[in-house]
Formats: sequence, structure tokens, C-alpha cells
Amino acid sequence: MSADQTESIDELRACLLNESGKVPLAHRFRALFLLKSLGRDGDNEAIDVIGAGFRDDSALLKHELAYVLGQTKNMHAVPTLRGVLQDVAEDPMVRHEAAEALGALGDVDSLELLTDYFHNDPLEVIRQTCELAIERIKWENSKAAKEETLQESAFSSIDPAPPMPSEIAQVQKLQEILVDQAVPLFERYRAMFRLRDLGTPDAVDALITGFDDPSALFRHEIAYVFGQLSDPRSAPALIKVLQNGAEEGMVRHEAAEALGSIATDEVMPVLQGFLNDKERVVRESAIVALDMYEYERSEEAEYAALPATA
Ligand SMILES: [Fe+2]
Ligand SMILES: [Fe+2]
Repeated sequence: MSADQTESIDELRACLLNESGKVPLAHRFRALFLLKSLGRDGDNEAIDVIGAGFRDDSALLKHELAYVLGQTKNMHAVPTLRGVLQDVAEDPMVRHEAAEALGALGDVDSLELLTDYFHNDPLEVIRQTCELAIERIKWENSKAAKEETLQESAFSSIDPAPPMPSEIAQVQKLQEILVDQAVPLFERYRAMFRLRDLGTPDAVDALITGFDDPSALFRHEIAYVFGQLSDPRSAPALIKVLQNGAEEGMVRHEAAEALGSIATDEVMPVLQGFLNDKERVVRESAIVALDMYEYERSEEAEYAALPATA
């Protein structure tokens, strides 16, 4: 399947939902990318097909569904995302992505729900995600958002926090904010995305220091940013994270995907070593990353141009 063909919504549904029971995971991800662009163009049926995927048992796939819904700017996704956040039996990584997606959609009407989970969810990863989503929605509707000058980002993703204003460009200063536990999480994320947008070798080194953070959510976002940057300079730090069996699956998964985006001849054999990892989300990340690599090597340009995943 390639991105330029015109498949019907029924074909995309059959592929995403694995109706035959024989669709490889990577093909399902590709169907999701196609559904995403339909959903972004206002096709609510595509949003519903993505929503039907939450009945699956792969946390990796489901967290990607939530991420994609947040990137569509289509408010038809809101009820589904709220339901996922409220489903406490759901995998925390999937619930996290649903809360983040509500923030990405800037859904003011979800503030009450997000505030509830920010105060009361037993899991730190959910509380912190809700904190960020609340702040993002407030920021988007603030005076500051209209007055700040932000550097135009090379990345098309809607992020959990905007970068810091462009006049803040000193890597050392940003690194201090990044790791300062006394600074609100939203501001530390803003420093993170500012460092990403600077993207210099110094900025990459500064971001690596974020892997020492006590918050798994924070560490997974550092790995996500490295996936976007795709700078081989971050590869040794990402490999260390992936190899650390004591690290959270959510963080190791993001490190695997980032290595898949870096895709040098050195990192791909490393990923092969994780195809049988004890953690399902890590195994599946390695499978999808290696598949993407194959596509890029076979010069399927349209697939290589697909945006970064969550
Ligand atoms: Fe995430
Ligand atoms: Fe992810």
C-alpha cells in the first residue's frame, strides 16, 4: 500500500481494523496515515473508523490512533478521546495520548474533565499529561499566545506545548529551564520544544540531559523530540534508553521509534535485537520502525515523507 493510491474508506477500514485477521501491523499503520489526512480534511467517517480501532488489543496501535485524532484538528474526535481517557482499564500510554490529543485539539469544553483527571488520577503519567493539556488549551486562548513571537517550526506536529518565544535562543539558559524541577512542567516543555526547533548539536546535547528526569512522561517526550530531529548525535543516548530493561515501556518504545527515524546503518541492526523484547510495545515499535526503514530504502518517497508518529 502506498500513500498515493485512492483506497475507499471501506478498504482503509478493513486494513486498519484488521478485518481479515491477516493484516501486518505496519500496513495498519499506513492505513491510519491515510485516514488521518481524510479526517483532517473534515471527513468524519474517517474519524469514526479510527475511533473503532480502540477495540484492538495493541496499545501501540491504539496510542497512535489517539495521537492521530489529536493531529486532525477535527472536533468530531472529541467524544471518542474523552471516552478513552475515562476508561481506566485502558493502557496508560493510550489514555495519556487521548488526554494529550484533547489538548492538541484545543478543546475548551474538555477543561473540566482534564482538571478532574489532573487532580484525581492515580497515575502520574495521566496527571502530568492533563496538566499539560490544560495549560496548552489555556495558552492557546491567552493574550500571550497572540503577542509572543514564535519561530516557525520545521515540524508540522501540534505539540503538547508551544516552543518558547524566539528571543529565548541561548541553549544553556533553555537547558537550565528544561531540567529545573521547580519550574512548571508546561514551561519546561516549552524549553524542550524551543531546543528542538534550534536543533543545533548543542541543543541536542542539552536535550539528552532530559533523560535523567524523574518523570517517565518527560523522558518519553525527549525521545519523541529526538525522533522528529532524527539527528544521529542522539543515537547513543537513545540506544542506552532502549537497552535499559528497568526503563518504562512507554519511554523505550519512543526511543525505538526515534532510532527508526534516524535510520542509519548503525542503528537498524540494534533495533533488530528488540524484535523479541519482553515488552510488547517495544517489540511492536521495533517491527514498525524496521518496516519504515525498508520503505525508505526502497525509495518510496511518499512514505518516507509521512510525518513523525507519537
Ligand atoms: Fe506520548
Ligand atoms: Fe508514542
